[in-house]
Amino acid sequence: MSTQMWIRQIHRWLSMAFTLAVIANIVAMIMQLQAVWIGVLALVPLIPLLATGLYLFALPYLNRSNA
Ligand code: HEM
Repeated sequence: MSTQMWIRQIHRWLSMAFTLAVIANIVAMIMQLQAVWIGVLALVPLIPLLATGLYLFALPYLNRSNA
């Protein structure tokens, strides 16, 4: 698998981890739980999601200059 495909797959699976963390945050909010780690739980996948997402965004422009 190429590097591009790896990054796309990583972005894809991190999005599921992020979704679960968002659900955990909503549940914690409903249960009125105050815990910093639940908030951090969403940030952990979100930061690499941002990096890989920006890479995916830049890909078509990077490929254009190669053509
Ligand atoms: C944090 C900032 C994010 C940026 C900058 C970003 C950017 C991108 C870009 C540019 C693509 C590729 C679109 C294309 O095919 O041309 C993409 C795909 C995708 N993004 Fe994100 N994204 C971000 C966060 C998220 C989040 C929070 C989720 C969901 C929880 C998500 C889920 C996905 C999925 C499922 C794909 C399709 C992957 C595939 O092609 O297999 N992204 N994103």
